[in-house]
Amino acid sequence: MSTHPLARLTAAEIDKARELLSGVLTESTRFAYVGLAEPDKRPVLAGEAVPRQVRVLLLDRATGLGRDCLVDLTAGAIASITEADATIGGQMPILDEEFMVIEEILAESAEWLAALAKRGLPVEEVRACPLSAGHFDYEDEAGKRMIRVLAFHQPDPAELVWAYPIDGLVAYVNLTERTAHAVYDHQVFPIPREKAEWDVPARDTLKTIEITQPDGPSFAVEDDVVTWEKWQFRIGFDMREGLILNQISFDGRPIVYRASIAEMVVPYADPSPARFWQNYFDTGEYLFARYTNSLELGCDCLGEIHYFDATLADEQGAPRSINNAICMHEEDYGVLWKHTDLFNEMAETRRQRRLVISFFVTIGNYDYGFYWYLYLDGTIQLESKATGVVFTSAYPGEGYPYATEIAPGLGAPFHQHLFSARLDMTVDGVNNAVDEVDAVRVPVGPDNPYGNAFGRRSTRLATESAAQRLADPAAGRVWHIVNPEVTNRLGRPVGYALHPAGLPVLLADESSSIHARATFATKHLWVTKYSPDERYPAGDLVNQSHAGDGLPAWTAADRPIDGEDIVVWHTFGLTHFPRPEDWPIMPVDYAGFTLKPYGFFDRNPALDVPKSTAKHCH
Ligand code: NI
Repeated sequence: MSTHPLARLTAAEIDKARELLSGVLTESTRFAYVGLAEPDKRPVLAGEAVPRQVRVLLLDRATGLGRDCLVDLTAGAIASITEADATIGGQMPILDEEFMVIEEILAESAEWLAALAKRGLPVEEVRACPLSAGHFDYEDEAGKRMIRVLAFHQPDPAELVWAYPIDGLVAYVNLTERTAHAVYDHQVFPIPREKAEWDVPARDTLKTIEITQPDGPSFAVEDDVVTWEKWQFRIGFDMREGLILNQISFDGRPIVYRASIAEMVVPYADPSPARFWQNYFDTGEYLFARYTNSLELGCDCLGEIHYFDATLADEQGAPRSINNAICMHEEDYGVLWKHTDLFNEMAETRRQRRLVISFFVTIGNYDYGFYWYLYLDGTIQLESKATGVVFTSAYPGEGYPYATEIAPGLGAPFHQHLFSARLDMTVDGVNNAVDEVDAVRVPVGPDNPYGNAFGRRSTRLATESAAQRLADPAAGRVWHIVNPEVTNRLGRPVGYALHPAGLPVLLADESSSIHARATFATKHLWVTKYSPDERYPAGDLVNQSHAGDGLPAWTAADRPIDGEDIVVWHTFGLTHFPRPEDWPIMPVDYAGFTLKPYGFFDRNPALDVPKSTAKHCH
């Protein structure tokens, strides 16, 4: 059987890639990333044979040097190896192994031990929390593999450490030298003393809800290709991006060639000297899908579930499996359409249903779920769910403007969770265009004598620079992704409308380091001309990246995007001013966007949904 070009890497393929690289590996080589080197979409769509290739990022722990390798499984050979230069670009992603040794490294630091002693804390009760270093043009960090460390007190191994931040203290660690590069003891703050009581007695008033589908689910899965009602797509999964939906189509008509959440960043608002640098690119720096949860029936997902396992590589380059990594099921979603007619006695209701494809990651204190929804009426939706524990600080005192006091003396610094969806659109074909559509008032005049008129303004975004846009919720702004070459029965281009939530983009100042490194997050919309290498909106090597990588660099060419093969990039997310109710574990907070057909169909595509027969209806 021939392998589909977008098929997920198998354990045997990961083994093969490592074997082919064996000549360049040493004791200290680690595999920072192993993933399918996805082929250019053009030969894939043309049905041409493409070589099966694997991208491997190697890190030499002894020297800190990174290598970017392309391994050709079809040819059985290494296609290329490039040395990464961390003095001009970013560092290899952060390894798990590096996280593990932080406390050991700091235990060797006299300054760290002195700072803990000053606070009366035994080192064995202190948990060191390693966090990505970012880039601040410090000469003494140039080219070095760094991490910054904040600490928490854990008086008892069963306790949530986030209740006890040791604030005012930060260590900068050199991961290659395995030394504390610098320890800054800015200020001693009292450690809050209230325990994080999360395990409270459960109420007994909730009755059981069971979701049953006695005839089984309506979807079918064959070789990672999912068919559900008129939808079809191929499951992808990668240690960096997590879930990928490939070649999404409805009724055989293509809509999205590839959909993923290609980056996310969590910039913090607290300017205090111990934590001004806090901002994590969970996707690009930590490759967060490595921390995908194994989901359990009845807890994470409810109903007739289909699970997909994920096969990733460990840091030795060996395959490892995450059981039940992706969950898929159907959900009833209330009323789809309904009418009781005044004149013809029609009284009809149809119920909406959606297919849910999801995964959950745990990255440090936070847990993120990513839920793709496909609806019977052709709607596509993405919802990210943020839960877990907020990152805490000492609350410096009444009126502190950059954190909420969430428990006595305990602060939760303000922050944002900003995601970038990469939507490689193929609305009824490869050549698409984007129109920005606003609702507009019409002034009173000869055509509008009573002033009731309103209309809309549609603006074609013709080039990459013109397509760097902000949402405008007051204008109901949407972006129509249309195919200028294909029309519906009304003679208009078929399209899908991107409905943004229109919440704040990156709030950090334009001169800040994070603004330069996460420029993608300063606009809700970017559109680029498709290029197979343009995958990550904050650049390829994001860990300690300098500035301007990814979207700002690519769009400097200002390529035309009107009627071209285009990729739509959408920034969305939460600006989180933590609430007392977010402590000690926060209820899920939601962010996302919707893609709705706009003239893609000639009429309501869900007229043929049958009446419900469930006994619960009567
Ligand atoms: Ni948050």
